[in-house]
Amino acid sequence: MRGVAVLGSTGSIGTSTLNVLRRHSERFRLVALTGGTNEGLLAEQVAEWRPAFSGLASTAGPACLLEAATHPDADVVVNAVVGFAGLPATLAALRAGKRVALANKESLVVAGDLVRAAAREGGGELIPVDSEHSAVLQCITGRESGIRRLILTASGGPFRCWPVERLAVATVEEALNHPTWRMGNKITVDSATLANKAMEVIEAHHLFGLSYDAVEVVVHPQSIVHAFVEFADGSVLGQMGFPSMELPILYALTHPDRVPDQGQRPFDPVAAGALTFEAVRRDVFRAFHAGVEAGRAGGTAPAAFNAANEVAVGAFLAGRIPFGRISEVIEQVLAGHSAAAATSLEAVRAADALAREHALRFLA
Ligand SMILES: NC(=O)c1ccc[n+]([C@@H]2O[C@H](COP(=O)([O-])OP(=O)(O)OC[C@H]3O[C@@H](n4cnc5c(N)ncnc54)[C@H](OP(=O)(O)O)[C@@H]3O)[C@@H](O)[C@H]2O)c1
Repeated sequence: MRGVAVLGSTGSIGTSTLNVLRRHSERFRLVALTGGTNEGLLAEQVAEWRPAFSGLASTAGPACLLEAATHPDADVVVNAVVGFAGLPATLAALRAGKRVALANKESLVVAGDLVRAAAREGGGELIPVDSEHSAVLQCITGRESGIRRLILTASGGPFRCWPVERLAVATVEEALNHPTWRMGNKITVDSATLANKAMEVIEAHHLFGLSYDAVEVVVHPQSIVHAFVEFADGSVLGQMGFPSMELPILYALTHPDRVPDQGQRPFDPVAAGALTFEAVRRDVFRAFHAGVEAGRAGGTAPAAFNAANEVAVGAFLAGRIPFGRISEVIEQVLAGHSAAAATSLEAVRAADALAREHALRFLA
Protein backbone atom coordinates (compact mmCIF):
# COMPACT_ATOMS: atom_id res chain seq x y z
CA MET A 1 0.00 0.00 0.00
CA ARG A 2 1.32 3.42 -0.93
CA GLY A 3 1.01 6.28 1.51
CA VAL A 4 -0.49 9.48 0.11
CA ALA A 5 -0.35 13.04 1.45
CA VAL A 6 -2.90 15.48 0.04
CA LEU A 7 -1.97 19.16 0.29
CA GLY A 8 -4.93 21.43 -0.38
CA SER A 9 -7.40 18.65 0.44
CA THR A 10 -10.25 21.16 0.95
CA GLY A 11 -10.12 22.44 -2.65
CA SER A 12 -11.43 21.21 -5.98
CA ILE A 13 -8.46 18.95 -6.83
CA GLY A 14 -8.08 17.96 -3.18
CA THR A 15 -11.66 16.70 -2.87
CA SER A 16 -11.43 14.98 -6.28
CA THR A 17 -8.28 13.24 -5.03
CA LEU A 18 -10.15 11.97 -1.99
CA ASN A 19 -12.89 10.61 -4.32
CA VAL A 20 -10.20 8.70 -6.22
CA LEU A 21 -8.63 7.40 -2.99
CA ARG A 22 -12.05 6.25 -1.72
CA ARG A 23 -12.40 4.05 -4.83
CA HIS A 24 -8.87 2.66 -4.46
CA SER A 25 -8.54 2.05 -0.75
CA GLU A 26 -6.91 -1.32 -1.40
CA ARG A 27 -3.94 0.42 -3.07
CA PHE A 28 -3.52 3.69 -1.20
CA ARG A 29 -3.54 4.83 2.40
CA LEU A 30 -4.10 8.49 3.21
CA VAL A 31 -1.42 9.61 5.67
CA ALA A 32 -1.58 13.43 5.68
CA LEU A 33 -4.04 16.20 4.84
CA THR A 34 -3.71 19.98 4.75
CA GLY A 35 -6.25 22.74 4.20
CA GLY A 36 -5.89 26.49 3.89
CA THR A 37 -8.77 28.21 5.69
CA ASN A 38 -11.69 25.75 5.52
CA GLU A 39 -11.55 24.42 9.06
CA GLY A 40 -14.98 22.74 8.89
CA LEU A 41 -14.26 20.68 5.78
CA LEU A 42 -10.80 19.71 7.00
CA ALA A 43 -12.34 18.51 10.28
CA GLU A 44 -14.84 16.36 8.34
CA GLN A 45 -12.02 14.90 6.24
CA VAL A 46 -9.94 14.14 9.33
CA ALA A 47 -12.93 12.41 10.94
CA GLU A 48 -13.41 10.25 7.84
CA TRP A 49 -9.78 9.39 7.06
CA ARG A 50 -8.00 9.56 10.43
CA PRO A 51 -4.66 10.55 8.82
CA ALA A 52 -1.45 10.43 10.84
CA PHE A 53 -1.01 14.18 10.20
CA SER A 54 -3.30 17.08 9.40
CA GLY A 55 -2.80 20.83 9.38
CA LEU A 56 -4.68 24.01 8.53
CA ALA A 57 -2.24 26.56 7.08
CA SER A 58 -4.22 29.60 8.31
CA THR A 59 -3.77 28.56 11.93
CA ALA A 60 -0.75 26.22 11.94
CA GLY A 61 1.25 28.32 9.43
CA PRO A 62 2.91 27.28 6.15
CA ALA A 63 5.22 24.82 7.96
CA CYS A 64 2.35 22.33 8.11
CA LEU A 65 2.59 21.97 4.31
CA LEU A 66 6.26 21.03 4.63
CA GLU A 67 5.50 18.57 7.38
CA ALA A 68 2.84 16.85 5.29
CA ALA A 69 5.03 16.96 2.15
CA THR A 70 7.91 15.20 3.89
CA HIS A 71 5.88 12.84 6.09
CA PRO A 72 7.86 9.59 6.43
CA ASP A 73 4.79 7.46 5.59
CA ALA A 74 4.00 9.38 2.39
CA ASP A 75 5.24 7.86 -0.87
CA VAL A 76 3.15 10.20 -3.03
CA VAL A 77 2.41 13.86 -2.32
CA VAL A 78 -0.53 15.34 -4.21
CA ASN A 79 0.14 19.07 -4.25
CA ALA A 80 -3.27 20.66 -4.82
CA VAL A 81 -2.51 23.99 -3.16
CA VAL A 82 -3.29 27.01 -5.32
CA GLY A 83 -0.66 29.66 -6.09
CA PHE A 84 2.92 30.44 -5.10
CA ALA A 85 2.17 29.09 -1.60
CA GLY A 86 2.56 25.55 -3.00
CA LEU A 87 6.18 25.93 -4.12
CA PRO A 88 8.14 25.20 -0.88
CA ALA A 89 6.20 21.95 -0.37
CA THR A 90 6.91 20.81 -3.94
CA LEU A 91 10.64 21.41 -3.41
CA ALA A 92 10.65 19.74 0.03
CA ALA A 93 8.77 16.65 -1.18
CA LEU A 94 11.07 16.18 -4.18
CA ARG A 95 14.17 16.64 -2.02
CA ALA A 96 12.74 13.98 0.32
CA GLY A 97 12.52 11.57 -2.64
CA LYS A 98 8.72 11.53 -2.93
CA ARG A 99 6.61 11.23 -6.03
CA VAL A 100 4.89 14.59 -6.41
CA ALA A 101 1.56 14.46 -8.22
CA LEU A 102 1.62 18.12 -9.17
CA ALA A 103 -1.58 20.07 -9.59
CA ASN A 104 0.08 23.22 -8.25
CA LYS A 105 1.33 24.34 -11.66
CA GLU A 106 2.56 27.60 -10.14
CA SER A 107 5.51 25.62 -8.65
CA LEU A 108 6.86 24.89 -12.13
CA VAL A 109 5.94 28.31 -13.49
CA VAL A 110 7.78 30.32 -10.87
CA ALA A 111 10.74 28.00 -10.26
CA GLY A 112 10.87 25.30 -12.94
CA ASP A 113 14.66 24.94 -12.83
CA LEU A 114 14.71 24.72 -9.03
CA VAL A 115 11.93 22.14 -9.03
CA ARG A 116 13.79 19.95 -11.53
CA ALA A 117 17.02 20.34 -9.54
CA ALA A 118 15.21 19.32 -6.32
CA ALA A 119 13.97 16.15 -8.04
CA ARG A 120 17.48 15.32 -9.25
CA GLU A 121 19.05 15.97 -5.83
CA GLY A 122 16.52 14.05 -3.77
CA GLY A 123 15.54 11.35 -6.24
CA GLY A 124 11.95 12.61 -6.26
CA GLU A 125 9.65 12.20 -9.21
CA LEU A 126 7.38 14.81 -10.75
CA ILE A 127 4.13 13.62 -12.31
CA PRO A 128 1.67 16.17 -13.69
CA VAL A 129 -1.97 16.26 -12.66
CA ASP A 130 -3.00 18.94 -15.17
CA SER A 131 -5.14 17.11 -17.73
CA GLU A 132 -3.13 18.39 -20.71
CA HIS A 133 0.23 17.31 -19.27
CA SER A 134 -1.20 14.03 -18.06
CA ALA A 135 -2.40 13.51 -21.64
CA VAL A 136 1.12 14.15 -22.95
CA LEU A 137 2.63 11.81 -20.38
CA GLN A 138 0.11 9.11 -21.29
CA CYS A 139 1.00 9.51 -24.99
CA ILE A 140 4.77 9.43 -24.51
CA THR A 141 5.15 6.79 -21.80
CA GLY A 142 7.10 3.95 -23.38
CA ARG A 143 8.05 6.14 -26.36
CA GLU A 144 10.03 9.01 -24.82
CA SER A 145 12.35 9.69 -27.78
CA GLY A 146 11.57 11.46 -31.01
CA ILE A 147 9.03 13.94 -29.64
CA ARG A 148 8.87 16.87 -32.07
CA ARG A 149 6.00 19.02 -30.85
CA LEU A 150 3.23 19.21 -28.27
CA ILE A 151 -0.13 20.78 -28.92
CA LEU A 152 -1.97 21.55 -25.70
CA THR A 153 -5.68 22.19 -25.99
CA ALA A 154 -7.57 25.06 -24.31
CA SER A 155 -11.34 25.22 -23.96
CA GLY A 156 -11.11 28.96 -24.65
CA GLY A 157 -13.04 29.68 -21.45
CA PRO A 158 -16.35 31.55 -21.22
CA PHE A 159 -15.11 34.50 -23.33
CA ARG A 160 -13.81 32.55 -26.30
CA CYS A 161 -15.94 34.44 -28.83
CA TRP A 162 -16.50 37.71 -26.97
CA PRO A 163 -15.46 41.03 -28.54
CA VAL A 164 -12.60 42.71 -26.75
CA GLU A 165 -14.73 45.70 -25.53
CA ARG A 166 -17.29 43.38 -23.90
CA LEU A 167 -14.53 41.24 -22.37
CA ALA A 168 -12.94 44.28 -20.70
CA VAL A 169 -15.98 44.70 -18.44
CA ALA A 170 -16.92 41.04 -17.89
CA THR A 171 -18.23 40.36 -14.38
CA VAL A 172 -16.92 37.92 -11.79
CA GLU A 173 -20.02 35.78 -12.26
CA GLU A 174 -19.43 35.63 -16.03
CA ALA A 175 -15.74 34.80 -15.57
CA LEU A 176 -16.55 31.97 -13.14
CA ASN A 177 -19.04 30.41 -15.54
CA HIS A 178 -16.59 28.03 -17.24
CA PRO A 179 -18.20 26.07 -20.08
CA THR A 180 -16.55 22.67 -19.54
CA TRP A 181 -14.65 22.45 -16.21
CA ARG A 182 -15.65 23.01 -12.54
CA MET A 183 -12.56 24.23 -10.69
CA GLY A 184 -11.42 26.59 -7.93
CA ASN A 185 -12.01 30.31 -8.52
CA LYS A 186 -8.43 31.32 -9.24
CA ILE A 187 -7.81 28.78 -12.01
CA THR A 188 -11.28 29.47 -13.42
CA VAL A 189 -10.39 33.15 -13.87
CA ASP A 190 -6.97 32.12 -15.25
CA SER A 191 -8.85 30.00 -17.79
CA ALA A 192 -10.98 32.99 -18.76
CA THR A 193 -7.90 35.20 -19.37
CA LEU A 194 -5.92 32.25 -20.80
CA ALA A 195 -3.12 33.07 -18.32
CA ASN A 196 -3.68 29.45 -17.29
CA LYS A 197 -2.68 28.25 -20.74
CA ALA A 198 0.51 30.33 -20.67
CA MET A 199 1.32 28.66 -17.33
CA GLU A 200 0.74 25.30 -18.95
CA VAL A 201 3.14 26.12 -21.79
CA ILE A 202 5.83 26.97 -19.20
CA GLU A 203 4.92 23.81 -17.27
CA ALA A 204 5.25 21.66 -20.41
CA HIS A 205 8.62 23.23 -21.26
CA HIS A 206 9.98 22.13 -17.86
CA LEU A 207 8.23 18.76 -17.59
CA PHE A 208 9.11 17.47 -21.03
CA GLY A 209 12.35 19.38 -21.73
CA LEU A 210 11.08 20.98 -24.94
CA SER A 211 11.81 24.44 -26.32
CA TYR A 212 9.02 27.01 -26.31
CA ASP A 213 8.81 26.73 -30.11
CA ALA A 214 7.87 23.07 -29.68
CA VAL A 215 4.88 23.72 -27.39
CA GLU A 216 1.79 25.06 -29.12
CA VAL A 217 -1.76 25.75 -27.99
CA VAL A 218 -5.00 25.31 -29.87
CA VAL A 219 -8.51 26.21 -28.74
CA HIS A 220 -10.79 23.17 -28.54
CA PRO A 221 -14.14 24.21 -27.03
CA GLN A 222 -15.38 20.67 -26.31
CA SER A 223 -12.41 19.78 -24.02
CA ILE A 224 -12.42 16.18 -25.28
CA VAL A 225 -8.88 15.98 -26.69
CA HIS A 226 -6.55 17.04 -23.87
CA ALA A 227 -3.29 17.21 -25.84
CA PHE A 228 -1.59 16.01 -29.02
CA VAL A 229 1.99 14.79 -29.31
CA GLU A 230 3.74 14.91 -32.67
CA PHE A 231 6.68 12.55 -33.14
CA ALA A 232 9.73 12.95 -35.39
CA ASP A 233 8.17 10.95 -38.24
CA GLY A 234 5.08 13.21 -38.27
CA SER A 235 2.82 10.75 -36.48
CA VAL A 236 0.47 12.38 -33.96
CA LEU A 237 -1.04 10.77 -30.85
CA GLY A 238 -3.76 12.38 -28.75
CA GLN A 239 -5.43 11.47 -25.47
CA MET A 240 -9.14 12.06 -25.04
CA GLY A 241 -12.08 11.62 -22.74
CA PHE A 242 -14.96 13.57 -21.21
CA PRO A 243 -13.64 16.31 -18.92
CA SER A 244 -12.82 14.92 -15.46
CA MET A 245 -9.82 15.54 -13.23
CA GLU A 246 -10.20 12.20 -11.51
CA LEU A 247 -8.54 10.28 -14.34
CA PRO A 248 -5.39 12.45 -14.43
CA ILE A 249 -5.25 12.32 -10.62
CA LEU A 250 -5.50 8.51 -10.65
CA TYR A 251 -2.90 8.25 -13.41
CA ALA A 252 -0.50 10.49 -11.44
CA LEU A 253 -0.84 8.04 -8.54
CA THR A 254 -0.33 4.88 -10.60
CA HIS A 255 1.89 5.91 -13.56
CA PRO A 256 3.23 4.08 -15.52
CA ASP A 257 0.62 1.49 -14.60
CA ARG A 258 -3.08 1.74 -15.33
CA VAL A 259 -5.55 0.33 -12.86
CA PRO A 260 -9.21 -0.53 -13.41
CA ASP A 261 -11.50 2.34 -12.34
CA GLN A 262 -15.25 2.80 -12.46
CA GLY A 263 -15.12 6.53 -11.80
CA GLN A 264 -15.05 7.79 -15.39
CA ARG A 265 -17.97 8.43 -17.70
CA PRO A 266 -17.44 5.89 -20.50
CA PHE A 267 -16.24 7.56 -23.67
CA ASP A 268 -18.82 7.83 -26.42
CA PRO A 269 -17.66 9.51 -29.64
CA VAL A 270 -21.24 10.05 -30.77
CA ALA A 271 -22.19 11.82 -27.53
CA ALA A 272 -18.95 13.83 -27.72
CA GLY A 273 -20.18 15.21 -31.05
CA ALA A 274 -18.14 17.30 -33.47
CA LEU A 275 -14.65 18.17 -32.27
CA THR A 276 -13.50 21.60 -33.41
CA PHE A 277 -10.20 23.47 -33.18
CA GLU A 278 -9.39 27.17 -33.50
CA ALA A 279 -6.35 29.41 -33.16
CA VAL A 280 -5.91 31.36 -29.90
CA ARG A 281 -6.96 35.02 -30.30
CA ARG A 282 -3.62 36.31 -29.00
CA ASP A 283 -4.52 39.97 -29.56
CA VAL A 284 -7.58 39.55 -27.29
CA PHE A 285 -6.15 37.19 -24.65
CA ARG A 286 -3.11 39.30 -23.88
CA ALA A 287 -2.31 37.52 -20.61
CA PHE A 288 -1.59 34.39 -22.65
CA HIS A 289 0.91 36.18 -24.86
CA ALA A 290 2.54 37.98 -21.87
CA GLY A 291 2.89 34.71 -19.94
CA VAL A 292 4.48 32.78 -22.79
CA GLU A 293 6.92 35.65 -23.40
CA ALA A 294 7.81 35.65 -19.68
CA GLY A 295 8.50 31.91 -20.00
CA ARG A 296 10.75 32.52 -22.98
CA ALA A 297 12.60 35.31 -21.11
CA GLY A 298 13.23 32.84 -18.26
CA GLY A 299 14.99 33.64 -14.96
CA THR A 300 12.63 35.44 -12.60
CA ALA A 301 10.28 36.70 -15.35
CA PRO A 302 7.78 33.82 -14.97
CA ALA A 303 7.71 34.44 -11.19
CA ALA A 304 6.88 38.10 -11.88
CA PHE A 305 4.17 37.02 -14.33
CA ASN A 306 2.67 34.68 -11.76
CA ALA A 307 2.79 37.23 -8.93
CA ALA A 308 1.18 39.95 -11.05
CA ASN A 309 -1.50 37.50 -12.09
CA GLU A 310 -2.21 36.34 -8.52
CA VAL A 311 -2.57 39.94 -7.31
CA ALA A 312 -4.71 41.02 -10.27
CA VAL A 313 -6.99 37.96 -10.10
CA GLY A 314 -7.43 38.48 -6.36
CA ALA A 315 -8.42 42.12 -6.99
CA PHE A 316 -10.82 41.09 -9.76
CA LEU A 317 -12.49 38.43 -7.59
CA ALA A 318 -12.83 41.01 -4.80
CA GLY A 319 -14.62 43.34 -7.23
CA ARG A 320 -11.85 45.97 -7.14
CA ILE A 321 -10.85 45.93 -10.83
CA PRO A 322 -12.62 45.09 -14.09
CA PHE A 323 -11.69 41.90 -15.96
CA GLY A 324 -9.72 43.80 -18.62
CA ARG A 325 -7.32 45.20 -16.00
CA ILE A 326 -5.93 41.73 -15.23
CA SER A 327 -3.91 41.48 -18.43
CA GLU A 328 -2.94 45.16 -18.24
CA VAL A 329 -1.49 44.72 -14.74
CA ILE A 330 0.46 41.66 -15.89
CA GLU A 331 1.86 43.60 -18.85
CA GLN A 332 2.75 46.62 -16.69
CA VAL A 333 4.55 44.49 -14.09
CA LEU A 334 6.48 42.55 -16.72
CA ALA A 335 7.46 45.73 -18.56
CA GLY A 336 9.10 47.03 -15.38
CA HIS A 337 10.67 43.73 -14.33
CA SER A 338 14.43 43.27 -14.67
CA ALA A 339 14.78 39.51 -14.97
CA ALA A 340 17.51 37.97 -12.83
CA ALA A 341 18.67 34.36 -12.54
CA ALA A 342 16.20 32.22 -10.56
CA THR A 343 18.90 30.14 -8.88
CA SER A 344 17.50 29.94 -5.36
CA LEU A 345 14.18 29.96 -3.54
CA GLU A 346 15.24 33.29 -2.01
CA ALA A 347 15.77 34.85 -5.47
CA VAL A 348 12.34 33.62 -6.58
CA ARG A 349 10.70 34.85 -3.37
CA ALA A 350 12.32 38.27 -3.83
CA ALA A 351 11.10 38.53 -7.43
CA ASP A 352 7.64 37.40 -6.35
CA ALA A 353 7.51 40.00 -3.55
CA LEU A 354 8.71 42.84 -5.79
CA ALA A 355 6.25 41.97 -8.56
CA ARG A 356 3.39 41.86 -6.03
CA GLU A 357 4.42 45.29 -4.75
CA HIS A 358 4.46 46.66 -8.31
CA ALA A 359 1.11 45.06 -9.14
CA LEU A 360 -0.47 46.59 -6.03
CA ARG A 361 0.93 49.98 -7.01
CA PHE A 362 -0.64 49.69 -10.49
CA LEU A 363 -3.95 48.75 -8.87
CA ALA A 364 -3.94 51.73 -6.50
N1 LIG B 1 -9.45 22.42 -10.30
C1 LIG B 1 -8.97 21.86 -11.38
O1 LIG B 1 -9.70 21.21 -12.14
C2 LIG B 1 -7.51 22.01 -11.74
C3 LIG B 1 -7.03 21.43 -12.92
C4 LIG B 1 -5.69 21.50 -13.20
C5 LIG B 1 -4.82 22.14 -12.33
N2 LIG B 1 -5.31 22.72 -11.19
C6 LIG B 1 -4.37 23.40 -10.29
O2 LIG B 1 -4.47 22.80 -9.00
C7 LIG B 1 -4.25 23.76 -7.97
C8 LIG B 1 -5.48 23.76 -7.07
O3 LIG B 1 -6.59 24.17 -7.84
P1 LIG B 1 -8.07 24.06 -7.27
O4 LIG B 1 -8.96 24.37 -8.40
O5 LIG B 1 -8.22 22.78 -6.55
O6 LIG B 1 -8.08 25.28 -6.24
P2 LIG B 1 -9.03 25.50 -4.98
O7 LIG B 1 -10.32 24.78 -5.15
O8 LIG B 1 -9.06 26.96 -4.75
O9 LIG B 1 -8.24 24.78 -3.79
C9 LIG B 1 -7.01 25.28 -3.35
C10 LIG B 1 -6.55 24.53 -2.11
O10 LIG B 1 -5.37 25.18 -1.61
C11 LIG B 1 -5.59 25.59 -0.25
N3 LIG B 1 -4.86 26.83 -0.06
C12 LIG B 1 -5.10 28.03 -0.62
N4 LIG B 1 -4.19 28.93 -0.22
C13 LIG B 1 -3.35 28.27 0.63
C14 LIG B 1 -2.20 28.67 1.37
N5 LIG B 1 -1.72 29.92 1.34
N6 LIG B 1 -1.58 27.74 2.13
C15 LIG B 1 -2.05 26.46 2.19
N7 LIG B 1 -3.14 26.03 1.50
C16 LIG B 1 -3.77 26.94 0.73
C17 LIG B 1 -7.10 25.76 -0.15
O11 LIG B 1 -7.52 25.71 1.20
P3 LIG B 1 -8.94 26.31 1.73
O12 LIG B 1 -9.94 26.11 0.65
O13 LIG B 1 -9.18 25.49 2.97
O14 LIG B 1 -8.70 27.75 2.03
C18 LIG B 1 -7.57 24.57 -0.97
O15 LIG B 1 -7.44 23.40 -0.21
C19 LIG B 1 -4.01 25.08 -8.70
O16 LIG B 1 -2.65 25.29 -8.84
C20 LIG B 1 -4.66 24.88 -10.06
O17 LIG B 1 -4.06 25.67 -11.06
C21 LIG B 1 -6.63 22.67 -10.88
